Amino acid sequence: MIVVLDFGGQYNQLIARRIRELGVYSELLPYHVPAEKIRELNPKGIIFSGGPNSVYDEGAPRCDQRIFELGLPILGICYGMQLLSHHFGGQVEKAQHREYGKAKLRLNTTSRLFKGLQEEQVVWMSHGDLVKEPPAGFLVTAESPSCPVAAMEDADRGLYAVQFHPEVKHTLNGMDMLKRFVYDVCGCQGKWTMGAFIDQAVAAIREQVGDKKVLCALSGGVDSSVVATLVHRAIGDQLICIFVDHGLLRKGEAESVMQTFFDKFQMNVIKVDARQRFLQKLKGVSDPEQKRKIIGNEFIYVFEEEAGKLEGIEFLAQGTLYTDIIESGTETAQTIKSHHNVGGLPEEMKMDVIEPLNTLFKDEVRKLGEELGLPEEIVWRQPFPGPGLAIRVLGEVTEEKLEIVRESDYILREEIKKAGLEREIWQYFTTLPNIRSVGVMGDARTYDYTVGIRAVTSVDGMTADWARIPYEVLETISNRICNEVPGVNRVVYDITSKPPATIEWE
Ligand code: XMP
Repeated sequence: MIVVLDFGGQYNQLIARRIRELGVYSELLPYHVPAEKIRELNPKGIIFSGGPNSVYDEGAPRCDQRIFELGLPILGICYGMQLLSHHFGGQVEKAQHREYGKAKLRLNTTSRLFKGLQEEQVVWMSHGDLVKEPPAGFLVTAESPSCPVAAMEDADRGLYAVQFHPEVKHTLNGMDMLKRFVYDVCGCQGKWTMGAFIDQAVAAIREQVGDKKVLCALSGGVDSSVVATLVHRAIGDQLICIFVDHGLLRKGEAESVMQTFFDKFQMNVIKVDARQRFLQKLKGVSDPEQKRKIIGNEFIYVFEEEAGKLEGIEFLAQGTLYTDIIESGTETAQTIKSHHNVGGLPEEMKMDVIEPLNTLFKDEVRKLGEELGLPEEIVWRQPFPGPGLAIRVLGEVTEEKLEIVRESDYILREEIKKAGLEREIWQYFTTLPNIRSVGVMGDARTYDYTVGIRAVTSVDGMTADWARIPYEVLETISNRICNEVPGVNRVVYDITSKPPATIEWE
């Protein structure tokens, strides 16, 4: 295991993840974690991450000084390098120009960190300070015109440091450098797999929970499905899942959730049929934000009611991912807080939270799901908004309109799958704008709904481009929707990127 100490830089989560990609378990811990805790974890090395501070700032983050006495190899990255330098008596100063972007370095290839690499390397820099004078005993192992001490080391003591960011892809051979540190310097073997993660997580959950009961809100999304399956693997029937069917899911989804978790995995799943209740609440409401609010609140009421019927629940399992923690800007929460996964759970539900996925990224969670034997349609499920189809029926939501979206969306999904485009397109769905237009079907005039197709490519949903679906595929989709979905006589394709549009239409 390699511990990554988090000094607040924007790429920190990436470092731990890169180490895991190398087959070595790695966790990101807060910079102030005590040395004893690190000793308990028994890692083979420590990485100090980057961070926005200058080591001379008042209150600049510093680690427990006893960490340096653990005798473990340390790799300092960016701020981590400056901190190492500062600690061992080197000189750090403001760079004349902040350096941000690609830089060309000259390496000393006799360094263990750079073994086998060319002397000239392209790396990614992002810093305001730099090391002017390395501490005594340190050798400079890389330089660039604007950064004379771009890497340094005291190999005898296992101390290495780089000013650039080996964890980002723009540092072309960054993975090699991390590999050399982790394998050659720390002596890790690279045998860690998702299977090992499952074993560790199962043991930790068993220890934490004992013979108590755990509750989980199962939505059918990847994160909650994986967390429920993992916790179930650990404690079996001590886990109780609540699945709220709000009637706003896609065609076949509620059935698939029950089939997978109740029938196949034989998990304790309470299905709450709240379809009418949600429809009732949404009646006459056409403002998108109000719709969202109603659905979020109603979800909590239903969940609370059901949870209230259960006794002796002491834990709540949540599918919080690493990125969720970063987004909400908190450290791992111990007691319940509002969380977007479940739309904000009530304060008075005093349960401890179990978040076994909170060190993982989305694609790692998918791998974990595969390893746990979850079906492909769940593991590779495209992102789906909490308010579901209610924000794809524009304006007031009625059962008739939901049915049109469900059926047309199902056809779209079938055809995208047939065309083998599922993994290429980030998100694809149909919408029902509140438009009727004139058409002609079988010599008769029609006056029916228009269905919109939205399909985008994206990395994280923050920006998106419309997907270039081949015309023939679009043609089949359009024909099928008009022929098979009653009440539709026109299909349009949304060719707007985000920005200026958003992915969803509401
Ligand atoms: P937009 O429409 O903002 O969507 O471009 C970006 C991503 O977020 C999803 N989305 C939501 N997810 N609750 C959610 O859980 C919501 O209210 C919500 N609105 C949008 C959307 O599907 C896309 O993946």
